[in-house]
Amino acid sequence: MTEPAIQDPVVVLGAGLAAVSFTGGLRAGGFAGDIQVVGDEAELPYDRPPLSKEYQREGAADKIRLDLSRARDVEWLRGTPASKIDTRRRQVQLADGRCLGWGTLVFATGATPRRLPALQQAPMPVITLRTLDDARRIRTALAPGVRLVVIGGGVIGLELAATARGLGATVTVIEALGRLMSRCASTTLAAVVARSHVEQGVDLRLGRQVTGFAGSALTLDDGARVGADLVVVGIGVIANDEVARDADIACDDGIFVDRLGRTTCPGVYAIGDVTRQRNPVSGRFERIETWSNAQNQGLAVARTLLDPTAAPYADTPWYWSDQYDLRIQVAGVSQGDDEIVRGDAAPGAKFSLIQLHRGRTVGVTCMNNVREFSTLKRLLGDAPLPHRAALADPATDLRKLLAAPKG
Ligand code: FAD
Ligand code: APR
Repeated sequence: MTEPAIQDPVVVLGAGLAAVSFTGGLRAGGFAGDIQVVGDEAELPYDRPPLSKEYQREGAADKIRLDLSRARDVEWLRGTPASKIDTRRRQVQLADGRCLGWGTLVFATGATPRRLPALQQAPMPVITLRTLDDARRIRTALAPGVRLVVIGGGVIGLELAATARGLGATVTVIEALGRLMSRCASTTLAAVVARSHVEQGVDLRLGRQVTGFAGSALTLDDGARVGADLVVVGIGVIANDEVARDADIACDDGIFVDRLGRTTCPGVYAIGDVTRQRNPVSGRFERIETWSNAQNQGLAVARTLLDPTAAPYADTPWYWSDQYDLRIQVAGVSQGDDEIVRGDAAPGAKFSLIQLHRGRTVGVTCMNNVREFSTLKRLLGDAPLPHRAALADPATDLRKLLAAPKG
């Protein structure tokens, strides 16, 4: 039998969801060796999705801590970044001067928000949202009547816009492209989301960029000025791959990994947002920036490190986003060359979208339709798509339809 690939001790860089899931998976799989996790944040690991939603409303940091009970006997080194690795000596240098030796090294360093240099000297708070500290600063500034300007109409910006409206803030969203959520939503979904925000009183400026500021207002590229007490920038993230890159591990805004989490350096692995991996639906190497990927890739890499016969990671990517009372779920590729609309694609309605590309089902979206999501996901990869007309009819019972012979 082939030997497990894992070598003692294990050092993980980054202490987010992927690290917690991976270390818990190692212990659940029976690994009894030493595990150290190096995290640059002072906090114990916490969940990020609530930072733009529940945490802004409730402010309860204790509710968002990740459960560490599976990750038994793990040493969490907090508040210090890893600054350099030596792949020949198998050593990692920490910024505080400590040096750790590894048998197996795992990058779980996540991603960092892109910044907007034009607002560096702005007089009002300009905050990106990734950490609990960021969320605390935003929460402190958000209050009824506060003029919030969100830059970037992606998931972070829109979730925060929705939460801030609920808290009574005045909200403007400035998006550079002509549509919202271009990275991860179809044009149909994006249009419904845009209408929902406008109905909730958000001042939506599509196709606009911020050029700078004048006093307490932001200036836009069409000459407009938008008064701001607080600015939140959500214009995408870049992978925290610099330590790997400096060690000549193959990276391109993300550390390249295969389905076993292996990088181009033997004994060095990567999981979560920091990875660039083959998307099983698109076939392309992509960064998959979702909670479910951090969770499940972490678990899968733990499993395959312990058992070379275990199934490699091949999950279909998916994410959810909550905005007002909209529960959005998207799996696979968000936009194809053809789309089936199941239901009425309108604000407040329950509907699903099926994305096709060259006749193959490549994506599904559910809006307020949680019960259908897992059933619809089973269509991914199907060619040709069964029962197209019946699928478009929301009255059709999906379970029965998909259990029936294709035709
Ligand atoms: P991270 O959570 O980023 O953790 C990486 C950790 O490594 C960080 O603590 C980082 O500071 C640390 N680190 C970086 N460099 C070093 C270093 N050199 N040394 C030591 N430590 C280092 N996904 C969804 O699917 N649905 C959602 O609704 C959703 N909402 C979100 C809302 C917000 C506000 C945010 C920020 C994200 C949201 N996500 C959502 C995305 C999801 O949270 C991420 O995909 C997930 O957190 C990725 O986990 P990770 O462990 O790979 O990386
Ligand atoms: N001005 C205005 N909008 C911009 C600019 C700019 N200078 N640059 C980019 N944008 C827009 C993009 O067109 C896109 O609509 O910002 C949006 C960024 O959207 P996402 O890529 O979804 O990034 P973000 O919302 O910041 O979310 C980052 O958080 O929830 C996680 O998984 C998610 O990893 C993702 C991360």
